[in-house]
Amino acid sequence: MNQKIFYSLMIVGGCLSLLWSPKGYTAEQTVVQKGEYIFRATGGCGCHTDYKNKGEFLAGGRAIRTPFGIFYGTNITPDAKTGIGGWSDDDFIQAMTKGISPQGQHYAPVFPYTSFTKMTKEDLLHLKAYLFSLPPVEKPNKPHDLIVPFGQQIGFMLWKKLHFQETKFQPDPEKSAEWNRGAYLSEALAHCGECHTPRDWQGVLKEKMRYAGSKDGPEGELAPNITPDGETGIGDWGTADLIEFLKTGTKPNYDDSQGLMMEIIEHGYSHLKKEDLAAISLYLRSLPPVHNPEASTKSSDEDDEY
Ligand code: HEC
Repeated sequence: MNQKIFYSLMIVGGCLSLLWSPKGYTAEQTVVQKGEYIFRATGGCGCHTDYKNKGEFLAGGRAIRTPFGIFYGTNITPDAKTGIGGWSDDDFIQAMTKGISPQGQHYAPVFPYTSFTKMTKEDLLHLKAYLFSLPPVEKPNKPHDLIVPFGQQIGFMLWKKLHFQETKFQPDPEKSAEWNRGAYLSEALAHCGECHTPRDWQGVLKEKMRYAGSKDGPEGELAPNITPDGETGIGDWGTADLIEFLKTGTKPNYDDSQGLMMEIIEHGYSHLKKEDLAAISLYLRSLPPVHNPEASTKSSDEDDEY
């Protein structure tokens, strides 16, 4: 008899613990974990952390030098007063896909909403859940220091009218699932093209030179040609080379990556699953090769020898 009671209690207890077991909590954690993965895939939002001056994680203040002046990355911690703690899901989606703040201000395209606009709503919400799981930091944003400080808003609005279109990523049904995954990761999340494509005088990406490298990349650094051009690009890199590079920052010639690329590898891409890095590699290797001696790392290697 006692045993029966004991077993019944065990069963009831088991069921209750199943109900009570931190199911909601686990689900919530999964959303945050999924969001962290998205965060890594974007490169770790490095522009929002002032690593150089040991600034707090994602609390802004990092200077980003561009031909249009200095922008300061903003505080994206969930602090209600100085960060994005007061933002609703819709506010976040609007900022990431339309480049408009909750107060209706237009952002400069140095914030790559031009790529993030292609993200799925689900990924955006997961990313927000991750950001909101982090400790809030109270730190007011620093005003940008631009060459034309007046009429910025009108300028950004005009720029967007001319050059920006809200879009969603469109998978190519002719291509494999792996290719499409690589395209989505590169185009919408990792935004490789924002740095590795040259811009015209208005800061618009030159479409014909996609991924062909930019000698005035972010912070005035050379962002090399990463199309599969044999002579000036990375045509001689194999899939394993590119995966290794995105994991560790080490190039096939054993050089280490520098500057911003190394930062986004360390805080972002190195945390991605191998199959996702392979998908990015597959996508990059399918791009049309573009010959661009201006943005070749090989020419600078040769220069070193003289
Ligand atoms: C924030 C700007 C930025 C983003 C985003 C970015 N890169 Fe880079 N990348 C750079 C810079 C700057 C360098 C040059 C530094 C170096 O060679 O170490 C570089 C170097 C590289 C190199 C080395 C090329 C060579 O010939 O030495 C490869 C390959 C590369 N990036 C691939 C990628 C891929 C793939 C992505 C997207 C998944 C990406 N990058 C996203 C800025 C960026």
